Amino acid sequence: MRYLPLGQTGVQVSELCLGTMTFGEGWGFGGIDDAQADAIVGKSLESGINFIDTADVYSAGDSELILGRAIKGERRNKFVLATKALGKMGPGPNDSGLSRFHLVRACEESLKRLGTDRIDLYQIHGFDANTPVDEVIRGLELLIQSGKILYPGFCNLAGWQAALMLGRADALGANRFVSAQMYYSLVGRDVEHEVVPLCHHEKLAFLPWSPLAGGFLTGKYRRDDAKKPEGSRFATSKFGEFPPVDKAKGFDVVDKLVALAEKNGTTPATLALKWLLCKPIVTSVIIGVKRIDQLVENLRATSLSACADDINTLDEMTAPSDLYPNWMIQRQAQSRRL
Ligand SMILES: NC(=O)c1ccc[n+]([C@@H]2O[C@H](COP(=O)([O-])OP(=O)(O)OC[C@H]3O[C@@H](n4cnc5c(N)ncnc54)[C@H](OP(=O)(O)O)[C@@H]3O)[C@@H](O)[C@H]2O)c1
Repeated sequence: MRYLPLGQTGVQVSELCLGTMTFGEGWGFGGIDDAQADAIVGKSLESGINFIDTADVYSAGDSELILGRAIKGERRNKFVLATKALGKMGPGPNDSGLSRFHLVRACEESLKRLGTDRIDLYQIHGFDANTPVDEVIRGLELLIQSGKILYPGFCNLAGWQAALMLGRADALGANRFVSAQMYYSLVGRDVEHEVVPLCHHEKLAFLPWSPLAGGFLTGKYRRDDAKKPEGSRFATSKFGEFPPVDKAKGFDVVDKLVALAEKNGTTPATLALKWLLCKPIVTSVIIGVKRIDQLVENLRATSLSACADDINTLDEMTAPSDLYPNWMIQRQAQSRRL
């Protein structure tokens, strides 16, 4: 297991982060209970994972509650603990969003559910168009100054939103985001257009979520199967197929992944994770598992020595097409170098 700096902080995080969206019944993503969570967290720790991610909304608070019990006591300080706020946690008009009013309360409630007195990485779960950007930044700053959170991060922002918020944090003399948590997989590379270059330029940690596209890249879903495998994420999820996958292209990627995995003596899931671990921008890949055997299989990505040509084949096959103005920016930079 490699350890890499969390952006420009002095904190070192493992190259795999344990995601806990599968903890709890509510979302139909896993239904992991206390005993299973204890085993998964224990195995993660034993394997060198020191980074765990949850969110207040996961199974309406149950993920945080179950995780809190699984890391109680000595385990707590062995992990860099990350959670999030934004989503709806109650019926009221202020039970969601990033207003200072909601953010402070959301953080206090997460602390209670997690059974801890600080959150190490506190991430906004997305953009809140109803709250002024400066209010969000000042709200996060208040939480830092009061010792409730250590570092702020973001998820799911457009490039312009992230750049705007970083600029305002600088202007206000506030702590800036240290990390970006974004969807990134072999069948979801849109983030390379805007947020990846931003993270590179601003030296933010880059934390891919749903690295197996919710299980699609394990090869368990097949082109000709009308029925989804029983108990699988796409069969049980209350949100339909998440994240969405362009099946027309996606199944070609799975076919290639299955063939190359076999050639390398590994599984499609392990190889798909290895492709991400080979990307220099990636700090820590947030994996999601429902069972210990999945965790063990996914952990193998950290020690897999896959053929570089095969990783390149996957990379080239799934490369996103150039969007304007990116292709123009590249051409202009190239012509200036000539
Ligand atoms: N910031 C955000 O907006 C956001 C959004 C989503 C996720 N996340 C974070 O990212 C984490 C990971 O997301 P994810 O759970 O969608 O990750 P993922 O790795 O794309 O999907 C995980 C699912 O794939 C299946 N799976 C995983 N490994 C497998 C294996 N070796 N063999 C067969 N099936 C396997 C399991 O589902 P089944 O067995 O049920 O098929 C598992 O629950 C979450 O826990 C959360 O922390 C963040």
